[in-house]
Amino acid sequence: MSQPKVFITRRLPTKLEPLRQIATIEVWEKRQPPPYEVLLEKVKAIDGLLCLLTDRIDLQLIKAAGTSFKVISQMAVGYDNIDISAATAHKIPIGHTPGVLTDATADLTWALLMASARRVVEADRFTRAGQWRTWEPDLLLGPNITGATLGIVGFGRIGQAVARRAKGFDMQIFYTSNHKCEPELEKLLGVEFTTFDSLLQKSDFVTIHTPLSEETYHLFGDRQFELMKQSAILINTARGAIVNPEALYQALSSGQIAGAAIDVTDPEPIPTDSPLLSLDNLIITPHIGSASLQTREKMANMAIANLIAGLEGERLPHCVNPEVYL
Ligand code: DGY
Repeated sequence: MSQPKVFITRRLPTKLEPLRQIATIEVWEKRQPPPYEVLLEKVKAIDGLLCLLTDRIDLQLIKAAGTSFKVISQMAVGYDNIDISAATAHKIPIGHTPGVLTDATADLTWALLMASARRVVEADRFTRAGQWRTWEPDLLLGPNITGATLGIVGFGRIGQAVARRAKGFDMQIFYTSNHKCEPELEKLLGVEFTTFDSLLQKSDFVTIHTPLSEETYHLFGDRQFELMKQSAILINTARGAIVNPEALYQALSSGQIAGAAIDVTDPEPIPTDSPLLSLDNLIITPHIGSASLQTREKMANMAIANLIAGLEGERLPHCVNPEVYL
């Protein structure tokens, strides 16, 4: 019997041996993702697809894959690039990689929060530009982090991991979410539930940890920035499209809020002529929330494990759409 065929949309930071033993693999070797039209060709008659958040997986693509298609395995926890209902309608399970990137993403959130408050990137640019002439009492001042108020929007694994870090900085921590946590967990993390609007009004730092959905698309717009303190700093390590980029530019350039640090943009990558790139009070990193060596290897291994399970007709260890098994 011939081996199942698998297409992997980029080189992965792990060994493919376990997969090679059971499948014929094609890996897209280029740095840029396969263009959609190419992907449509590549998926023809495959059994499994291992994809990334940069690949659009829609109904047309699922149909193009044909009747042998058994599994989509995404190397990411987020899956807003995949048409879940189309995959579910075709009984295709979708794998993803929750849990393993929680701490790495919370760490980057913390790095951005601290770098933004203490103006680390600006200070580095200042020094390299030869502007460090002497110690100055009012040079590059920023707000305190210790003791400040933190607002966490979305309180899943990553939001909670950020709260654990904030606790170590004696912060007053508010969160908002579709689900209020059990009182025991709130007590353990030292957090208080509040509404989205009141969180925006109270927080010195606001950090986003909610998935992108129809409900959260451009959740941050003019009105939300108007509610925030003028001294507030916004951090986004979730998905770029949760924040309206024009409203963000307006808020930062007018001094409506003090600063922002974002690891994700709308669109991605950020266009090189985006006005956001001209702002000194904005730090932008290229979607590296999960980019620790250990985390990326674990994500790749998890994606391979999901893929193998799907190819072998077993339930995926981490499945986005378990309805396919009903
Ligand atoms: C994810 O997993 O969804 C991140 O955005 C990339 O690691």
